[in-house]
Amino acid sequence: MQTVVQYLQAHQSDALETLKALLRIPSVSAITVHKPDVRRAAEFVRDQLASANLTTELVETAGHPIVYAEWLKAEKPNAPTVLIYGHYDVQPPDPLDKWVTPAFEPDVRDGCIWARGATDDKGQMLTHVLSVAAWLKATGKLPINVKFVIEGEEEVGSNNLDVFLAANREKLRSDIAVISDTSQYAPNIPAITYGLRGILACEVRLIGPKQDLHSGIFGGAITNPATALARLIASLHDANGRVEIPGFYDDVKPLTDTERSGFAALPFNERDFLASVGVESSWGETGFTSTERRWARPTCEINGLTSGYQGEGPKTIIPSWASAKITCRLVPNQDPHKLTKSLGQFLQKQLLPGCRLEFVESHGCPGFIADANSPFMDAARSAIQEAFGTKPVMIREGGSIPVVGTLKELLGVDTLLLGWGQNTDNLHSPNEHFAVADFHRGTLASAMLWQRIADRCA
Ligand code: BES
Ligand code: ZN
Repeated sequence: MQTVVQYLQAHQSDALETLKALLRIPSVSAITVHKPDVRRAAEFVRDQLASANLTTELVETAGHPIVYAEWLKAEKPNAPTVLIYGHYDVQPPDPLDKWVTPAFEPDVRDGCIWARGATDDKGQMLTHVLSVAAWLKATGKLPINVKFVIEGEEEVGSNNLDVFLAANREKLRSDIAVISDTSQYAPNIPAITYGLRGILACEVRLIGPKQDLHSGIFGGAITNPATALARLIASLHDANGRVEIPGFYDDVKPLTDTERSGFAALPFNERDFLASVGVESSWGETGFTSTERRWARPTCEINGLTSGYQGEGPKTIIPSWASAKITCRLVPNQDPHKLTKSLGQFLQKQLLPGCRLEFVESHGCPGFIADANSPFMDAARSAIQEAFGTKPVMIREGGSIPVVGTLKELLGVDTLLLGWGQNTDNLHSPNEHFAVADFHRGTLASAMLWQRIADRCA
């Protein structure tokens, strides 16, 4: 271990250079013109793993490629096998004019590295690539067996990953999965995430007149698709912030008192929280705290809303169409497909006459909750405590990582979610960043984790 730690310390600036090189590749999975860039990012990750002496493969899918790599030469016959998952794709960088330095020109300032993907997930994912490489380069071996699955479609719902997982169950067999794609609780309060929300994503399009119309000549006699859509969107919540989709709460298990008091025991200041996002008051489901609303209650959000004239100055038209991108965050036990169907029917039923509704299901995954008391959790707690100098807290989080549920369902494997980032790293938003110190501490914790797992989980 000592040799590995020294190796990591001696190679910190190389590690940062590697991250910068990966961040320069605009691997935006949602946008077709970036397809070659997405592949380049996959090749970059593959090459890193290959040069660390792992056996690697670029696995083609119906969409973006998956990087698979393994090293299965642990000396002890009962050494555990760890599956490390991460994603090399990123969210679109828009709005571009809000970035202080360009999204794909990584810049180090104020102790952070700034670029799209810095924290989500290139920086965090690389910590494991680098820690495994450090073990192999410094000592020629690892105390455990490792399998890497690094995909390029996490940010668009991981639809093709499931096909790969289902077809390769034997090859992917492992004792535990490790993912760093979540957050610490706060600066210097590292965390282990034992629960995530699931998601359902869809797009609604209302089609009205065959083209935009003069709103003076036709207004009043024709359904305006933007108005019709606004009514549908307004129908999604009641005045108490509850989601009105029929059956939405049917399968939701109530939060236990133990969990509620666990959340409440974490340091949290509502005013600081609101200030951090720049709003004056909160809004959400009545009867729940902000933490409960974000981590453990299902929600419905509009992610994009488009209709009519968006250019400079006024323009008097009835737009010919309107569309909205909608996602619901789900908690464990809710079924994304069942609720997507219910949402589609709910919207259709209330539609004003005079326009047509197109409803497209995009992707979905269920919520996740892990056993907080396994030996793997203990191994992670110990590694994090040593690398960060303080004990991690146990948290749930509101984001989604589709693979976590699939790993459990298809391979029977539990996941350790070990986030090195912060909620304030601007993931999915302009000026994404990742603290350089957390990048290095995360790599150190990862290197220590492999030894702890070997010691405690064989
Ligand atoms: N890293 C996030 C998920 C996350 C963020 C979990 C913060 C916990 C805390 C991940 O890359 C992500 O954004 N996932 C998408 C998944 C979706 C597109 C299926 C999400 O949550 O929106
Ligand atoms: Zn993300």
